[in-house]
Amino acid sequence: MADSTTLSNTEVEAQYDEYLPPIWKQLHVPVKHASGATIEDFDGNEYLDAFSGISVTNVGHTNDAVVDAAKDQLEDVIHGCSYVHPNAPVGDLAERLATETPGDLQKTFFCNSGTEAVEGAIKLARKYTGNTEILALEMGFHGRTLGSLALTGNSAYKNGMAPTLNDVVHAEPPYTYRCLSCGDEGCTADCADHIERVIGTQTADDLAAIVVEPVMGEGGIIVPPEGWLKRVQEIAHAHDAVLIVDEVQTGYGRTGEFWAIDHFDVVPDVLTQAKGIANGLPLGAFTARSEIADAFGSGDHLSTFGGNPVACAAALATIDELHNGAIENARTQGEWLAAELAELEAAFDVVGQARGLGLMQGLELVDPTAEGPRGVAPAPDSKLATNVSDRLRENGIIVGVGGYYSNVLRLQPPLTIDRAQLERIVSAIREALNAEVDQ
Ligand SMILES: Cc1ncc(COP(=O)(O)O)c(C=O)c1O
Repeated sequence: MADSTTLSNTEVEAQYDEYLPPIWKQLHVPVKHASGATIEDFDGNEYLDAFSGISVTNVGHTNDAVVDAAKDQLEDVIHGCSYVHPNAPVGDLAERLATETPGDLQKTFFCNSGTEAVEGAIKLARKYTGNTEILALEMGFHGRTLGSLALTGNSAYKNGMAPTLNDVVHAEPPYTYRCLSCGDEGCTADCADHIERVIGTQTADDLAAIVVEPVMGEGGIIVPPEGWLKRVQEIAHAHDAVLIVDEVQTGYGRTGEFWAIDHFDVVPDVLTQAKGIANGLPLGAFTARSEIADAFGSGDHLSTFGGNPVACAAALATIDELHNGAIENARTQGEWLAAELAELEAAFDVVGQARGLGLMQGLELVDPTAEGPRGVAPAPDSKLATNVSDRLRENGIIVGVGGYYSNVLRLQPPLTIDRAQLERIVSAIREALNAEVDQ
């Protein structure tokens, strides 16, 4: 085994090459140490992290309060299976979530990841409604295990690994920049009506759930138009289905509110969570109204590690940190960042659209000389997005690249990031765009 104190980037990459499948090559920046919004690799290079380990370390890498809470809990009890041995961190976190979640969302099931949260929520919806079918959105992302993968609306994630779950259909997303329903006229809540058509044409009207992200993350930071989410819930209820809002990526302050649904004034029937919940310790959850949650009787669902006490203790500290300024910072820095990105949109033809909420911002890059699908907007330019992200990495800045067309730069830094750090990121993006356009 290698000595991690003396390991170099090359050595750690060689280990990965030999002992891990080559999946890791997509997004690689080796990390030895991380703190706040900074990552240090094994060769001593520092990076400003504008992606938070895929939108996870919301209160900053190795946040002191979270580390202390986890350490304290490690000395009390690490594991007892939280469904066999009720323990304080799990009970406290469940009680806290009943307060943090809106309306009458009350009871939480804990698991270990986002995909498990989605899987469990689907099972709960079926058990509660007695119905089978699930509707999700084209271009949406809900995970990579076979149930959640069925909901994920992008064949790139399924290629060579189908079949997935039966009885899943997809409707158009509220992708206002490239909406195929309303084109240049701009999206409204009426865009949700496509969901009705999909139910009418592609299902047996035996719908258990509609599952949507309130802001689509992997799909390219897609923010729905006003009223859209409410309309989706009305459609779900009109078909005796529940609305599952997947806040795995958007929850825990990411959008400048505790939940993204807080922007849209909607109380879903089930709310899935993971990523930022414990600031990097593995934990997932879904919270439902009691009436719905109680459809899971004894033995209906379980997870050996789900609701691990150490992860739950870390989650409680994370929530405190969010309320101690991180959400407020996400809101104010997010507003500043959105205005700066809008300036980039105005200044560069290759920036098709800047969009987002809080510190979940995206820049959709395009080829202004070519038409996009059905001529609705300029063609997506994924090569440009990769080139810009490579230039940024060379310049010590990590951003994500996503979107259905892989052409959206994703800025999702720790919510504790400061203005000077954001200024550095924005000016590096401007520089990288200038360099690419000049080529
Ligand atoms: C909205 C959403 N749901 C579910 C998942 C799956 O989460 P995990 O990778 O923890 O399984 C993700 C991951 O990106 C996500 O963004």
